[in-house]
Amino acid sequence: MQTKILDINEESLKLSKKLIEEGKLVAFPTETVYGLGASAFDDDAVKSIFAVKGRPADNPLISHVHKDFDISTLIDYDPPYAKRLREAFLPGPLTLVYRSEGKVSKYVSCGLNTLSIRVPSHAGAQEFLKYVNLPIVAPSANISKHISPVTSEHVFEDFNGKIPLILEGGQCNGGIESTVCDVTGDIPMILRAGLITREMIASVAGDCQIYQMKKGEKPRSPGMAYKHYSPSCRTAIFKSDEIEKAKALYLEEAERGNRPNILCEGNIAKLLSGYQVLNLGDTDEEMAANLYYLLHEGEKRAGIIIAIEPKKQDGIMAGVMNRLTRACQS
Ligand code: TXA
Ligand code: MG
Repeated sequence: MQTKILDINEESLKLSKKLIEEGKLVAFPTETVYGLGASAFDDDAVKSIFAVKGRPADNPLISHVHKDFDISTLIDYDPPYAKRLREAFLPGPLTLVYRSEGKVSKYVSCGLNTLSIRVPSHAGAQEFLKYVNLPIVAPSANISKHISPVTSEHVFEDFNGKIPLILEGGQCNGGIESTVCDVTGDIPMILRAGLITREMIASVAGDCQIYQMKKGEKPRSPGMAYKHYSPSCRTAIFKSDEIEKAKALYLEEAERGNRPNILCEGNIAKLLSGYQVLNLGDTDEEMAANLYYLLHEGEKRAGIIIAIEPKKQDGIMAGVMNRLTRACQS
């Protein structure tokens, strides 16, 4: 199969609709990462997402809809605070997990009695979703466990020859995946940290919990239990006050000819002249936007990525830290 990368226009939208209706997969941009899309109503298409990604069969998928889509047809329960969250943050990088049974293919939620729904703000994603006018399930468009894609090239590298079409939408400017927030109970509960923070959700809903997996318990969001976001090269990670240790490892690896690169925030990068550095930038937003792009760069040019944790770890940085530590997990 030849994999086309096409700009988003009438012709490519027409083709994408045809492909989706035939049960094929179409990768498309969002403001967070690229997604690998299929019709949420098509059993075989949904199953093929799991197959082509090598995704564990118990990891549910997010349904994506355009901003005018009537989600009442997809859910069983809609607490008043969920409406307020939608009004405040959607379209945008917030996925809400609703009580829902039997509304879409049974393969979407892997046996859970919930359905997660997201309304991306990326203009290209809106155009695509509007044109097909169906809920589109889409995990991040990477082979399972690999780094999430923030450019069409990243998608192409993982799926060349395996999917027919990638819609071109430039580099995703959010950089890490949406916040996943459960709205099945009385209080919203964050299952995956992202660009919409606990503070932002609490300010609208009155309160917000963060899910902590208890020992021996089945995770509420199965994806959080897996190793993820991993570059193909080796990795190491140090605390923000362990710069000297990171430098020592760098020199050791360089001595052996192993092409080390240090991934760190702008303030630390300034102290590392003469070292190969992957500079995350200075603000929370920059660091979120640059993380996956730099992990992709690192795996291309480095034998080992030596990460130094950013100092700030709350707000958006909670999501960045979650992805960074899991990328560097051994
Ligand atoms: O930003 C994003 O959310 C991107 C773009 C493409 O929209 N998508 C994405 O999908 O990150 P994926 O499949 O890579 O991650 C979805 C996460 C997983 O951790 C999964 O377990 C969780 O959301 N999830 C999906 N449906 C769920 C449900 N019904 N209940 C609990 N967790 C759910
Ligand atoms: Mg993913």
